[in-house]
Amino acid sequence: MKSPLISATIITIGVSACVTAASNEEISSKAAAMLKSSFKANGQATLDRLDQDATQHLCSEFAGKAPPRDVAQKIEALNLATVKYPTDGNLLGDWKNGEKIAQEGRGKQFSDDPAGPVGGNCYACHQLSPQELSYGTIGPSLYQFGKLRGYGPETQRYAYGKIYNPDAYAACSNMPRFGHNGILSEQQIKDVTALLMDPASPVNR
Ligand code: HEC
Repeated sequence: MKSPLISATIITIGVSACVTAASNEEISSKAAAMLKSSFKANGQATLDRLDQDATQHLCSEFAGKAPPRDVAQKIEALNLATVKYPTDGNLLGDWKNGEKIAQEGRGKQFSDDPAGPVGGNCYACHQLSPQELSYGTIGPSLYQFGKLRGYGPETQRYAYGKIYNPDAYAACSNMPRFGHNGILSEQQIKDVTALLMDPASPVNR
């Protein structure tokens, strides 16, 4: 026969299990609240940066691993729909200016001047021109991008769209959504696209 003490212990364990078994949603909202409470708004870095949009929310659900194919397709379609191509139809700007933007790491941090300059910091993750020896390797090398892919309108459109919103072509990309998040202007995206696509740019020589 069970002693009353053992029964009471079993009941206690049962009750505490119910109390601690929080749903994923509860855990997520607690984690979000904890994150928010540990950050302070500072200059242009305001706390709305912690608010996830639908893409970030979906990607967080599969953090650390690739989302299932149907989810990835949904994310890519969602992001492709946000890409605003230039109304004048011209996707290529000035590659010399594009090189400066690719080199420029300042922009949206709390310690940066909100009046600019704002860059793309492409070299932090990519090799681009062979003249620049210091580059990161989180992203693939973009050296000879246009030369290898072809200089035609389809590649131009892909390059512009990729810089505008990388998730349009690779769900949950680690690359910043430069156009979508208003980091780079339309002209700046044209200039960086020219850096990748102009046959005269150091990327392709
Ligand atoms: C924080 C790192 C990071 C930064 C900064 C970054 N990228 Fe990327 N980029 C990546 C990663 C990772 C990939 C590969 C995954 C993907 O396709 O999204 C990539 C992919 C690309 C591709 C597709 C390459 C291919 O083979 O099709 C292009 C084009 C590109 N980046 C251009 C740029 C340009 C231009 C800039 C600067 C305006 C830039 N990236 C800044 C991380 C970065």
